[in-house]
Amino acid sequence: MVMNVVSLAVKILQSGGVVALPTETVYGLAASMRSETAVRKVFQIKGRPLLDPLIVHMLDYTWISEYAHTDDLKVDVKALADAFWPGPLTIVLRKKSIVPAIVTAGLDFVAIRCPAHEIFRKILRAIRVPLAAPSANPFGYLSPTTAQHVRDGLGDRVPLIVDGGPCNVGVESTILDVTADVPRILRPGAIPTSDIAGVLGVTVMDYSPSTGPAAAPGQLKQHYSPNTRLILVESAEDLSSLIGSAPPEDVAFVYLKRPTEQVHERNIFWLSDGGDYRAVARGLFEMLQTLDKSGYNTIYCQKAGQDGLGITINDRLTRAAAKFVP
Ligand code: TXA
Ligand code: MG
Repeated sequence: MVMNVVSLAVKILQSGGVVALPTETVYGLAASMRSETAVRKVFQIKGRPLLDPLIVHMLDYTWISEYAHTDDLKVDVKALADAFWPGPLTIVLRKKSIVPAIVTAGLDFVAIRCPAHEIFRKILRAIRVPLAAPSANPFGYLSPTTAQHVRDGLGDRVPLIVDGGPCNVGVESTILDVTADVPRILRPGAIPTSDIAGVLGVTVMDYSPSTGPAAAPGQLKQHYSPNTRLILVESAEDLSSLIGSAPPEDVAFVYLKRPTEQVHERNIFWLSDGGDYRAVARGLFEMLQTLDKSGYNTIYCQKAGQDGLGITINDRLTRAAAKFVP
């Protein structure tokens, strides 16, 4: 009898194994939160330092009170859950002792989200324990938005990679800390700050790279990087003038939206047809993953405007390019 992939994933997870699963944001490398051995494998497979805590994935809001304190908060977490779950919002809460220290890197706080991908949800419904899962990439490399990206990066180290198609959102969840007096963004992500502030009806402190690393351990300045040199360009005009000065064959140029002028060069790409940031975010890691394997010497990529989802797109691009900044 052929066991379906959900049952197989559940079986592996229940026996202390690790599986790669699709979420709506990026692919995750999942382990049962209850198994320290399994969680340790996740760190090992990714080559991730133990001081970088993992996000814990749950089915819905009713699960969180078992694992985190929700009664002493200044903000309405239920309202956030109603508005954004299942979906790409991660909420940092004070943890209960049932959450193993390895998951939170020894912190008193746990990051929780409810993923929207139907396969992930089926697995949670069947297994009924939270799954700790970072993105399913080697530590520091571009995030994976297809099963093939996971195979390319971690293939032989993961016993099962569940293919749920390309991720619909394409960038990671927004991480929101609600344990202080003023809620604050620890990582810009798929949900813009203004949407969160709108639901809460209070001021939300925006992400700032200067306060980020201390508050969200593991938020490294240099992260999500391709092997190919990546250089960011402020505008479409700047990119066009670079191309105008005779494009070398081994350089790729990436626009946010389809350029209006006729483009003949093979090495010109765009992340969306019309410039919608959701489309740009969806295609961002896929584009960089593909170009990184195409033998280019350098990738020039246009930055987004610093507003809404543009902040998240620029955050990922800036970290990806950081190791190439002299
Ligand atoms: O969309 C996502 O969030 C994806 C999918 C798979 O759910 N996951 C993801 O996980 O991006 P990862 O491990 O690549 O990034 C999680 C980051 C950590 O680097 C850390 O900065 C932050 O979440 N984090 C986790 N637990 C935390 C905690 N207790 N306090 C503060 N930050 C935390
Ligand atoms: Mg990651």
